[in-house]
Amino acid sequence: MSTRITVLATGGTIAGIAGSAIAKDYRAGEIGIDDYLDRVGGLGLEAELSGKQIANIDSADMGQGTWNALHDAILAAMDDAECDGIIVTHGTDTLEETAFLLDLTLPADKPVVVVGAMRPADAVGYDGLRNFANAVRVAGDPQASGRGVLVVMGDRVFGARDVRKVRTRGTDAFRGFPRESVALVTPASLEWFGAPWRTDAHAAFAWCDDLPEVVIVYSHAGLTGDTVTRQVGAATRGVVVAGLGEGNMPETVRQELVRRNRRGLPVVRASRADEGLVDREPEDDANGFVAGRALNPQKARILLQLLLAGGITDPATIQRAFDGR
Ligand code: SIN
Repeated sequence: MSTRITVLATGGTIAGIAGSAIAKDYRAGEIGIDDYLDRVGGLGLEAELSGKQIANIDSADMGQGTWNALHDAILAAMDDAECDGIIVTHGTDTLEETAFLLDLTLPADKPVVVVGAMRPADAVGYDGLRNFANAVRVAGDPQASGRGVLVVMGDRVFGARDVRKVRTRGTDAFRGFPRESVALVTPASLEWFGAPWRTDAHAAFAWCDDLPEVVIVYSHAGLTGDTVTRQVGAATRGVVVAGLGEGNMPETVRQELVRRNRRGLPVVRASRADEGLVDREPEDDANGFVAGRALNPQKARILLQLLLAGGITDPATIQRAFDGR
């Protein structure tokens, strides 16, 4: 019997159309899931595919409503005895955020693979069909279980915690940090590096259908505490600093955030640099700050939102979550 895979479509360039191969512009999220599955039907994939349209959007518009529907649909597919693995098609711009959010809030019993494309479906050299065929290979592999949510882009498989989009164009736009890819894949082969890493099959966090507001403060030369005051509103429950280098910030920004932290606002220092760890510094104790470690600002934001949703505001407990694998 061939593998049975549920495909949950959310839009993005993988379902995008430009209208011609030389068009300079295109629209993400144009092809519906039924049409898409017809197009992949000719690839000869060894899988029985069934599809569901969750949304058909540019992933710039991804947010709570679509995440709620997507999470529900994945749980339903996990409960379905007729489903062996799940593929989520997604725009590449916020793919890493969705993948990480799902990784933290889903059990690890069936493979969940998020996939996108950098070129629209009618472009010369459309990468979406190959990425999709690779995703089918991964979602249908029993060894994909126990690895949490995986991302397939450009013949590589990444862990959701590691993956990040690092280029605006080109089919090699994704990298992993601190782990590079965890497997190499083609439509015909799959090679894992290392054993599954999830020690617990249960979700790390309960699903929250209304995540608290966490603001990302982007640090730069000339940023002042006054600007931060304007960015952090009454509804803000936490702040992630996209810091300079190893999570640094101008002195007036630090003072403003220390002041806020003393009034109960958790602050996480991440980095605006492409790669590298942000470790704890001695001043973090005095400031009440948390070091974001390997997570970039957009992923640090997701983790902080889930912690806050669970009522966790204590910096030491937040730090332990950021220190996790
Ligand atoms: C999007 O993220 O929806 C548009 C860009 C892409 O998918 O590459």
